[in-house]
Amino acid sequence: MFRIIIPTLLLAITASASPACKATPYDAEWPSNIEWASLNASIDNQLLSTVPVASSCWSENPFGSNVSCGIVKSEWTNAMWQSNMPESISYPIYANNSCLPPTADGYVEGRGCTIGGLPQYIVNATTEEQISTAMKWAAARNIRIVVKGTGHDLNGRSSGAFALSIWTHNLRKLERHTSWQHPATNASVDVFVVGSGQQWGNVLTTALENGRVVTTGQDPSVGLGGYIQGGGHGPISRTHGLASSHVLQMRVVTSEGQILVANDAENQDLFWALRGGGPGLYGVVTEYVIKHHPAPRNVVTGNVLIAPKGGSNSSAERSWDAAVTHLSALPDLMDAGLAGACMVATGEMAQSFASLNESTTGVVIKQVFWSFNSTPAAMEALINPVLANITKAAGNNSLTVSLTTSSFGNYSSFYSTISGSDAAGGQGVSSSRLLGRTELVDTPHKKQKEYLKIAMHSEGTTGTYATVGLQGGPGVRNTAKEDWGALHPAWRSAYLHFISNGATADPIAAGSPKLALQHAARFNEAKEKMWREWAPNSGAYMNEANPYTSNFKQDFYGSNYERLVQIKAKYDPSESLFVLSGVGSDQWNYDLDSGRLCRA
Ligand SMILES: Cc1cc2nc3c(=O)[nH]c(=O)nc-3n(C[C@H](O)[C@H](O)[C@H](O)COP(=O)(O)OP(=O)(O)OC[C@H]3O[C@@H](n4cnc5c(N)ncnc54)[C@H](O)[C@@H]3O)c2cc1C
Ligand SMILES: *[C@@H]1O[C@H](CO)[C@@H](O)[C@H](O)[C@H]1NC(C)=O
Ligand SMILES: *[C@@H]1O[C@H](CO)[C@@H](O)[C@H](O)[C@H]1NC(C)=O
Ligand SMILES: *[C@@H]1O[C@H](CO)[C@@H](O)[C@H](O)[C@H]1NC(C)=O
Ligand SMILES: *[C@@H]1O[C@H](CO)[C@@H](O)[C@H](O)[C@H]1NC(C)=O
Ligand SMILES: *[C@@H]1O[C@H](CO)[C@@H](O)[C@H](O)[C@H]1NC(C)=O
Ligand SMILES: *[C@@H]1O[C@H](CO)[C@@H](O)[C@H](O)[C@H]1NC(C)=O
Ligand SMILES: *[C@@H]1O[C@H](CO)[C@@H](O)[C@H](O)[C@H]1NC(C)=O
Ligand SMILES: *[C@@H]1O[C@H](CO)[C@@H](O)[C@H](O)[C@H]1NC(C)=O
Ligand SMILES: *[C@@H]1O[C@H](CO)[C@@H](O)[C@H](O)[C@H]1NC(C)=O
Ligand SMILES: *[C@@H]1O[C@H](CO)[C@@H](O)[C@H](O)[C@H]1NC(C)=O
Repeated sequence: MFRIIIPTLLLAITASASPACKATPYDAEWPSNIEWASLNASIDNQLLSTVPVASSCWSENPFGSNVSCGIVKSEWTNAMWQSNMPESISYPIYANNSCLPPTADGYVEGRGCTIGGLPQYIVNATTEEQISTAMKWAAARNIRIVVKGTGHDLNGRSSGAFALSIWTHNLRKLERHTSWQHPATNASVDVFVVGSGQQWGNVLTTALENGRVVTTGQDPSVGLGGYIQGGGHGPISRTHGLASSHVLQMRVVTSEGQILVANDAENQDLFWALRGGGPGLYGVVTEYVIKHHPAPRNVVTGNVLIAPKGGSNSSAERSWDAAVTHLSALPDLMDAGLAGACMVATGEMAQSFASLNESTTGVVIKQVFWSFNSTPAAMEALINPVLANITKAAGNNSLTVSLTTSSFGNYSSFYSTISGSDAAGGQGVSSSRLLGRTELVDTPHKKQKEYLKIAMHSEGTTGTYATVGLQGGPGVRNTAKEDWGALHPAWRSAYLHFISNGATADPIAAGSPKLALQHAARFNEAKEKMWREWAPNSGAYMNEANPYTSNFKQDFYGSNYERLVQIKAKYDPSESLFVLSGVGSDQWNYDLDSGRLCRA
């Protein structure tokens, strides 16, 4: 008898487990209000109906936001403020600009305020049990699940139409355990145990009070969740490696409702995937155990400016040569102890970066270097020969080249100088690549100059800028193999993470957010083609990259992709967790206009 029933049952399960689309409120399968209320009751009443915070800026405040429109307008581009909102994300175009205040980029009068591309319901999670109950409930009902930590994501991966969102913001544990027992070796390790709703600024402040530093990014408001799962680079990654290689354990809730511990002794496959194999895909991390390092005694910084003098074409051309020579010198400088960040700018941006009084078809380099436990004289001795070469090659009167060094007596004063503005908003879609010696040193100068010009190509006359992070190098290369996790292997030989600020996604010019993003995808494809030619065996840092690259499997996951597909299938068999360019995302099509997520 069982022989007959089992295949039938299996068939039924397969059929209902892979419907063509995730559920929406327009479908009969969508739970009733009564069912949502009973979910609410089963998770300590922590379920929120989504209230777009900018609702107060629209006639009759349709969703009853309790934050005044004045505050929404003044705080909209503040990522720290955004991170305190259950539903808001820093790049709302990925939520279809569903409810914007009048001052926001992309605002259209009369567009109205809707839930649109925002999640339908949000779990304001305070316990793992609530997350487990809610995820299991949603997965069983064919409902898409998204995860929001801070909402910082540049590619909108922390939002999704008709989804149930797990908001981790209130998981804010932050403790130092000086003798945490390593689950595989039993060794006693000095760690921080951190809730996944925490943000790096707080973790760093606590670490510095203890004389320690942690693997933060450059902005204090960035969270642990997506940052670690994507890799996580920052001021100390040149020295100590990426954030994902500093994790010793994670606690994870799966879409099947399991509450798991993932480390080197149990659920090793999940542990591997969560270290660099992509955020928002395998489960919801609730807690991280992370390593830390002694705070440097002092930090030296050096600011370099290389700019064309005057607007002649010859100084413009010399500036492109100088930019190539500068970038080519960075691997040696990084091996010698320097880290930093470089801005490359063209057009009006170049003019304002370097206070030029004439327009230029050239390029401006604005580089900040830093090094720990060193001296300004030591830094100057490394950089000056490079600048001398650049000046010599350019001849007289075509370039301005300067270096100014400073000294900081402690890490916190250094960090506040280099950290960003915690800015949110903007409508750019970047295109990026990890570059190593093969690209920067072994590729002929002339070829590099051609590639650089394509990387800096922009629409219109405002020009553009690229952010080049000196975030690979020795610290990343020398990370022990067992700490590598699923991070793209290209990081091992990378020195620079080159982010071209690619295309503008202007929904007003294009007609809608969907069309604007499609335009950006097309514009960026020329850059992607160039990266594949310049750096065919490399990849990109998925957290700061073009989510529409036609080559995302190779670019973001490299040789790890197929194994990640299997791990994803094991821990999220209902495919409840979808993100743009995520593992398995080629099986789905997310349409911003309809909000529907359907099988491709
Ligand atoms: C201003 C700014 C500065 C930045 N600086 C740096 C930098 O210096 N270095 C760097 O490496 N990156 C940097 N980034 C990129 C950053 O890594 C990404 O924005 C990253 O997604 C942030 O993670 P989050 O958890 O804060 O964001 P969120 O938007 O909350 O989440 C991002 C992704 O992670 C998933 N996620 C979040 N929490 C969890 C969780 N607990 N479990 C499972 N999935 C989760 C989400 O579903 C989403 O897919 C910066 C971004 C911005 C906007
Ligand atoms: C969940 O319950 C709380 C407490 O009663 C209530 O404030 C909240 O609105 C409920 N959530 C939903 C989605 O109904
Ligand atoms: C708005 O309501 C939320 C949820 O009750 C609360 O946490 C928040 O403090 C309120 N904000 C204001 C400005 O009243
Ligand atoms: C997205 O925005 C477009 C117009 O900007 C609108 O037509 C469409 O209905 C929106 N979709 C959703 C799901 O909100
Ligand atoms: C989320 O839950 C916490 C703890 O119950 C509560 O203090 C906070 O106000 C809630 N936030 C919102 C937006 O409801
Ligand atoms: C760690 O400790 C456990 C329990 O005390 C023991 O069974 C195990 O063999 C130890 N492992 C190592 C690697 O020492
Ligand atoms: C300078 O270059 C621009 C574009 O590259 C070209 O249009 C212009 O004619 C050049 N001017 C001179 C003086 O060569
Ligand atoms: C730009 O500034 C330089 C030096 O200050 C000056 O010689 C030159 O005339 C200025 N050019 C223009 C176009 O104003
Ligand atoms: C300066 O240029 C010379 C000749 O091209 C080269 O050999 C040398 O390595 C360069 N020095 C630095 C510090 O880049
Ligand atoms: C630059 O100027 C110096 C001193 O005025 C001179 O000796 C040198 O030959 C010049 N170099 C070039 C390339 O014109
Ligand atoms: C770090 O240095 C700054 C500026 O010199 C000083 O104001 C601050 O108190 C120092 N902080 C610590 C923790 O020593």
